[in-house]
Amino acid sequence: METNRRITRSGVLLRVLILAAFTVTITAQKPAPEVFTLTVPNGPILTRLNASVTLPCELSPIFNVEPLEVRWYRSENSNSPALLYKDHKIQETPVDPRYRGRVSLTGGLERGNVSLTLERVTLEDRGEYVCHVSNERWYEKANVSMNVTGSAPVLSVASGGGGQVNVTCSSEGWSPQPKLTWRNKEETEIKNEQVLFTSDSQGLLSVSSWLLYPPSDSDWLSCTISLSEEEKRESRVLPHKPGAWKEAFIVTLVLSLLLLSALSTVVCILLKHRDQMKLEQNKSGKLTVSF
Ligand SMILES: *[C@@H]1O[C@H](CO)[C@@H](O)[C@H](O)[C@H]1NC(C)=O
Ligand SMILES: *[C@@H]1O[C@H](CO)[C@@H](O)[C@H](O)[C@H]1NC(C)=O
Ligand SMILES: *[C@@H]1O[C@H](CO)[C@@H](O)[C@H](O)[C@H]1NC(C)=O
Repeated sequence: METNRRITRSGVLLRVLILAAFTVTITAQKPAPEVFTLTVPNGPILTRLNASVTLPCELSPIFNVEPLEVRWYRSENSNSPALLYKDHKIQETPVDPRYRGRVSLTGGLERGNVSLTLERVTLEDRGEYVCHVSNERWYEKANVSMNVTGSAPVLSVASGGGGQVNVTCSSEGWSPQPKLTWRNKEETEIKNEQVLFTSDSQGLLSVSSWLLYPPSDSDWLSCTISLSEEEKRESRVLPHKPGAWKEAFIVTLVLSLLLLSALSTVVCILLKHRDQMKLEQNKSGKLTVSF
């Protein structure tokens, strides 16, 4: 009796295992589509020097890319790619030695995400990259461009004499030489010849400028540092009269405390609902920082 029951039980277990294996096989063999396309951002991906950056590239429709070949290369250099994924693994050769140890595919190939992660970005890394995905019957490629930009501009306000305030704007880490633009609340450019560039040991440029302006509690000033229309960073400041800093500080403090308590409430709610929630990914490649 005892032996019989054990046999029956393991019989059931065996059947469950076979069924499970069968299901897994069926899922894995769901055929990849005949044709596919790649989705990449329109504008350039901007990053800081020495930072890590992800160059997005995703398949549509979504399917498991593991059996396919993924090749990321500089436009001029397809034979010596930055990364080559083939035969279910990242290949050591024939890859460009400049990228060795700095590249990975971390987005999840099984979800059709072939985004390239590049670490310790150098100035040489700037440029066009090609995301190339192929199987025996079909290939698709798309360009992603990457550029290095400087830091968000830092604005400060000091007394300028004659009832005016002296607003300064500075930012570092640019190459090539960027353009600095002051604008008022109406988005009108304020002409200013006072722009100073200094170069650091890596050949990157720091830029700074100052402006005398009538103090105001409502008309902000903006400072934009740009390489092009797509490649720019902006910061804003209210040109408070220095000395009004005490009231400004107290108002800021009260607002911060209010914000903090509101935030902690939100965080509590979020934590509670964490399992039900999926956060929307921001897919915009454009980096414009505003304060
Ligand atoms: C693809 O992977 C990258 C990181 O490698 C990630 O930033 C991105 O959000 C992923 N895309 C999707 C749609 O999950
Ligand atoms: C980076 O931006 C600058 C200014 O727009 C441009 O001259 C340069 O070609 C860009 N580099 C790349 C690799 O896109
Ligand atoms: C404004 O401040 C800058 C330094 O941030 C200084 O170099 C400049 O001389 C000041 N201008 C006036 C008129 O005070």
